[in-house]
Amino acid sequence: MTQPTPISDDELDELERQFVGRVRGRVLEIGAGEGENFGAFDPGITWTGLEPDAKRRTELAQRAREWRHEAEPLDAVAESIPLPDHSVDAVVGTYVLCSVTDQAATLAEVRRVLVPGGRVVFVDHVVAPPRTLKYVVQRVATPFSKRFCHGCHWDRDTEQALVRAGFRGEDVRRLRVRSTPFGPVPMLLFEGRAPGDAASAAE
Ligand SMILES: C[S@@+](CC[C@H](N)C(=O)[O-])C[C@H]1O[C@@H](n2cnc3c(N)ncnc32)[C@H](O)[C@@H]1O
Repeated sequence: MTQPTPISDDELDELERQFVGRVRGRVLEIGAGEGENFGAFDPGITWTGLEPDAKRRTELAQRAREWRHEAEPLDAVAESIPLPDHSVDAVVGTYVLCSVTDQAATLAEVRRVLVPGGRVVFVDHVVAPPRTLKYVVQRVATPFSKRFCHGCHWDRDTEQALVRAGFRGEDVRRLRVRSTPFGPVPMLLFEGRAPGDAASAAE
């Protein structure tokens, strides 16, 4: 299979900003870290962040106030989101589906809190095609990255997990980003929708 030509970190950052900037209405950001995405969101959104790490959440809360978001970030994991069913129009997660303990449980929770037809934007590094050197490196490295890099898995097939969870891709980019010493990193940018009539979701 022909692999896409690798892009630079700057090109990836720009694409990521574009994807994150597409969500509207009530937005839940899972694994929001220290608020790295604030500059990319549309200023009209109503933002809620979820971040289990206390130190990051303190920084996130501070930055959220600077960006005039009123909601205090939620102290929770994405496998158990403390929000009612169908209470948000969109969910965003950048570099978090590689880190959650249980992807299927997380995506089931994302579906539960989204309105029918609600939008999702996920950006992450993903598993390389089987029978490539990169795939072997990822499989060997993941037990160590899980242990020493905050639960990060190098070998997740996140697109497959999203499809299995019922999300329908609308703009799905499978890219590679230049990286040394182990060669280009496969990346997924996924904009899609939960099942259901999108009429009830903010556009
Ligand atoms: C690599 S960082 C990404 C942070 C930010 N989203 C970004 O793009 O820079 C992964 C984040 O996911 C959070 N995280 C880890 N496990 C999680 C879980 N089960 N549920 C929600 N967030 C989680 C971590 O605390 C961390 O802030």
